[in-house]
Amino acid sequence: MKIIVHQYFRLMLSTALVAGLLFGCTSTDNNKEVVLDNKGKANASILIDKATEQKIDSVLSLMTIDEKVGQLVQYNGGWDATGPSDSQGDQYKLEKLKKGEVGSMLNVTSVASIRETQRIVMENSRLKIPLIFGFDVIHGYKTIFPIPLGESASWDLNIIEQSAAIAAKEAAASGLNWTFAPMIDISRDARWGRVMEGGGEDTYLSTQIGVARIKGFQGNDLSKSNTIAACAKHFAGYGFAEAGRDYNTVSISEYDLHNVILPPFKAAAKAGVATFMNAFNDLNGIPATGHQYLQRDLLKGEWNWDGFVVSDWGSIGEMMAHGYARDTNHAGEIAIKAGSDMDMQSFTYEQSLKTLVEEDKISIDLIDDAVKRILKVKFQLGLFDDPYKYCNEALETQMVYSEENLAVARDVAKKSIVLLKNEKALLPISKDINSIAVIGPLANDKNSPLGNWRGKGVYNSAISLLDGVKAAVSEDTKIYFEQGVALTIPTVEPGKNQFSTALKFNTTDRSGIKKAVNAAKKAEIVLLAIGEDAYQSGEGRSFTDIGFKGLQMELLEAIHKVNKNIVIVLMNGRPMDLSRPTELVPSILECWHLGSQSGYAIADVLFGDYNPSGKLPVSFPHNVGQVPIYYNKKNTGRPSNATQITYSHYRDAPKTALYPFGFGLSYTEFTYSNLSLDKTEITTTGELKVAVTITNSGERAGEEVVQLYIRDLVASFVRPVKELKDFKKISLKPGESKDVIFTINAETLQFYTANKKWEVEPGEFDVWIGGSSTTALEERFRVVE
Ligand code: NOJ
Repeated sequence: MKIIVHQYFRLMLSTALVAGLLFGCTSTDNNKEVVLDNKGKANASILIDKATEQKIDSVLSLMTIDEKVGQLVQYNGGWDATGPSDSQGDQYKLEKLKKGEVGSMLNVTSVASIRETQRIVMENSRLKIPLIFGFDVIHGYKTIFPIPLGESASWDLNIIEQSAAIAAKEAAASGLNWTFAPMIDISRDARWGRVMEGGGEDTYLSTQIGVARIKGFQGNDLSKSNTIAACAKHFAGYGFAEAGRDYNTVSISEYDLHNVILPPFKAAAKAGVATFMNAFNDLNGIPATGHQYLQRDLLKGEWNWDGFVVSDWGSIGEMMAHGYARDTNHAGEIAIKAGSDMDMQSFTYEQSLKTLVEEDKISIDLIDDAVKRILKVKFQLGLFDDPYKYCNEALETQMVYSEENLAVARDVAKKSIVLLKNEKALLPISKDINSIAVIGPLANDKNSPLGNWRGKGVYNSAISLLDGVKAAVSEDTKIYFEQGVALTIPTVEPGKNQFSTALKFNTTDRSGIKKAVNAAKKAEIVLLAIGEDAYQSGEGRSFTDIGFKGLQMELLEAIHKVNKNIVIVLMNGRPMDLSRPTELVPSILECWHLGSQSGYAIADVLFGDYNPSGKLPVSFPHNVGQVPIYYNKKNTGRPSNATQITYSHYRDAPKTALYPFGFGLSYTEFTYSNLSLDKTEITTTGELKVAVTITNSGERAGEEVVQLYIRDLVASFVRPVKELKDFKKISLKPGESKDVIFTINAETLQFYTANKKWEVEPGEFDVWIGGSSTTALEERFRVVE
């Protein structure tokens, strides 16, 4: 390894000397420009090293235009395609790698494959600029954590950071140095399949979670061998696809763009995320990939962010299908001018940029800027010091899927579970119960809990609900297992790409229902595992129907006739229509797709080893017709006069969600009291403290997410009826009380106003503190000039 590094620099140095240039000397504290975060602390992950800047300039000065354009090219490794396949063969890509005309590869995984691909570049290309290897490490690499939406339900930023850190550690130990995560798109539409990949409907919560995940992936030093570059995606508006149909057009006001969609991205940039990915959608008529305002003016301009932007898969070329670019050259011109630095798999840059420079359509400066941004991240990762630094087979074996990592996955999974309903305290179940029926298409499914974007998670490797129950109950408990009905035919086979298998939901085989009913008759309690297969959510999996596919409801109705003690163990990637299940059963446990340790984590909650503490990061509607439904809506001029017909409502459904944002039950009770403000009037730059007492008035220890909401009553733009502005997760023993104090200041109160600025407008504000977006104590204060 040392020899390779040495040779690399010798070559670079001699070439640099020939060119009459010298690399900058080793960095010292004196030549680092320290970037301060909003609290005035240095953010180590975005330290800009002046010596590195000099090295980048030196490398750039040695590059031909073909080599420069090559740095902006990213190819798929081919064997794990996550988008439409390409017509360029492996041989073509190999030749480009040898010539040093590729900057990055995606979907090349394992130390052996990455080492080999890097070797091709290092041993053949003129300048030996290392490749950066990207992969969708979305919720774990091989140790799989809950899907991001599920993990967000924990509202626990520490464990979210920890799970990202483990994902990074495993990915880095396997040779990777870049993940295409976190997705920080806000979405209010359960029809959109990718709602599973984000932090839900709320801007504040998603911002906090996005930053925690970036910290987890990147740590505070990208050059460490257990951290990888993160990628804030999809910039911007992708989660607002019209009607929840993936890739669809997005129309959004300037006001909502700034107040709802952009804050997580701004925070990601500030937190030093190394890369951004743009989006497939057009935003108000301009494809995000070609959006100059977003990428150049805002991200790289106003926000002063110095990482690089990768396009989404093929999205530069797709501007032609949008009807925004005439041909490949035009698409390349639009994208590079707009600030898209790297072309993921559209082959547009390699076909257009050189010609565009030669024809004077674009300046070489645009290409140079993109190359410098990419080289900077490669330097930050330490790839120039050692292109093989992430390639260590021993580490790969030792770090990946370790017992230690699995233990954290179980912890994160149990904290992500949300108790939606629990009448007559059916839960928790005693481990000494005489008999349990474990029924349903997902009851012994070891694959769906891994979710659809499971990195290198191994097919059928999750702990199923049945496994978890068996491990938890006493030896004398009788367990009756029946699948009842199938969920989908066929499911994704081992080794098959997740996008290559079409699922059919119209299962018609009822033969298992009778057996399931018989099992339910014999048991004291039924655990019914229903919901969605892993591949019923995710990219390209939008639905018009968010109910239960196939014969699942028929199974539920049949079981309900013989046994009323049903706990629905729901596994899913999106908010589902739970209206009929809510009518029928006493208990519903929202278990998402919880990852490798799913069954153990669910059993921890079912049998009371862990008291559920999750809260919904997204509203669950009564039916699909209510979608989009979200708690932080604006009032209409006719908000709520239930005695008249002419007010804003659907006449055939309630006005509110079935299960609202922020909601989640516990096995204990939390009582909120003594809401108090230290002042009732502050200036626009002042601050006030708001305090509340929370008491565990039940009989079990538990954790509660204490949520602070505000409303700006009258403003220059209509403000939401309620907005989450802070939260704290606390633990309380039975009978214990704790005071929680929040600070309200300009950061809490400001918004993107009619002046097109972030500012605090004087006036009255309501403040609520409670355990969900719908139950809370309320006070009012005034802000003056
Ligand atoms: C397309 C997806 O939109 C994006 O999120 C992902 O990172 C890329 N494909 C690469 O797989």
